[in-house]
Amino acid sequence: MNVLNSKPLQNTLTDRFQRVHTYLRISVTDRCNLRCAYCMPAEGIVYRQKKELLTFEEIERVAAIMVKLGVNKIRLTGGEPMVRRDIEKLVGRLSRLEGLKTVAMTTNATLLHEKAEILKKNGIKALNISLDTLKKERFLQVTRRDQFDQVWSGIQSALTQNFDELKLNVVVMAGFNDDEILDFVEFAFHNRINVRFIEFMPFKDNEWKIDKVVTYKDMISTIETKYKLNALSGDPSAVGKDFGITDKSGKSGKGSVSFITSMSDSFCSTCNRLRLTADGSVKSCLFYPAEINLRDRMREGADDAEVEEMIRYSLSLKPEAHAPAEELSQSDNRTMIEIGG
Ligand code: GTP
Ligand code: 5AD
Ligand code: SF4
Repeated sequence: MNVLNSKPLQNTLTDRFQRVHTYLRISVTDRCNLRCAYCMPAEGIVYRQKKELLTFEEIERVAAIMVKLGVNKIRLTGGEPMVRRDIEKLVGRLSRLEGLKTVAMTTNATLLHEKAEILKKNGIKALNISLDTLKKERFLQVTRRDQFDQVWSGIQSALTQNFDELKLNVVVMAGFNDDEILDFVEFAFHNRINVRFIEFMPFKDNEWKIDKVVTYKDMISTIETKYKLNALSGDPSAVGKDFGITDKSGKSGKGSVSFITSMSDSFCSTCNRLRLTADGSVKSCLFYPAEINLRDRMREGADDAEVEEMIRYSLSLKPEAHAPAEELSQSDNRTMIEIGG
């Protein structure tokens, strides 16, 4: 018998399509201090009240149950996770869970300058930063907040902290920032960072249109006018296709670039992700609206076995793949700001 496969199936979070779930994304708040048009509806959202959000104790409890069931990576998201007070304390608590290998975070970096050091100290190993433009005026236009300088200094702090993984997420939108692709590659060439170009995805009220999507193949054509990309092998469940960068003189770059190709080449067959929303629901797929609320039963006294059963039920509903883009833009899914990616 292969020892590596000897773990009983019922102790893993395996769905109907034999996908084993080892990665949990926890949204800690639905609030954000930016207003990105592709993430948040123009009219805003109705924020949850504090009592509707899971407490740190409740988050830790669900996380511990999932870690026992094979989850080895947790990513904290929002909204913006750093607007939740004392977030570094949650990081510290989660980092101590036995069996968990990685605690990660995705942030807009507005508050990173003051938090990078303590987050690293308390256990963040992998940090993903969202930044869609290197131009201050465009930043204001897309985020509706004049915070480019804070974000830039947050990125500089992150570069000095030596996280195991540091990534920059760039949502590419035709006619908005597709003329900056080479500038971002240059940034990756000179810094130890992975710049990820993301195909624009449809969510409720996020101004998505098919003609705003730039496919990764088109991005690669643009990049290859100036650089050579060398495919790198990586984790088979990763959402990105990864490449090293070489310039025309043959010099290798310090960083790398990747493409997240949800629209033109989806990667659902290798999905290993589950989500926990800030208000305590398990969401089995980014694009699947059905959710199972754990919070209320936990507050009514549900034991761990019942919570586990609810998580498994949510997983049993997980679709094989997401629907086509045009259908997603009409779906009743949460807004992106309430999911956290
Ligand atoms: P890593 O853990 O570094 O792989 O990060 P990540 O890509 O999972 O997380 P991040 O929060 O940085 O998200 C980057 C982009 O990937 C965002 O546009 C997310 O919406 C998208 N993304 C994350 N998870 C999924 C997923 O399960 N399905 C799809 N289609 N997109 C996803
Ligand atoms: N399409 C693709 N990526 C998105 N993100 C937010 N909205 C979208 C969208 N509509 C990204 C953010 C952040 C991550 C959590 O999700 O840039 O980095
Ligand atoms: Fe997994 Fe759903 Fe994302 Fe596909 S769209 S990779 S099934 S979460």
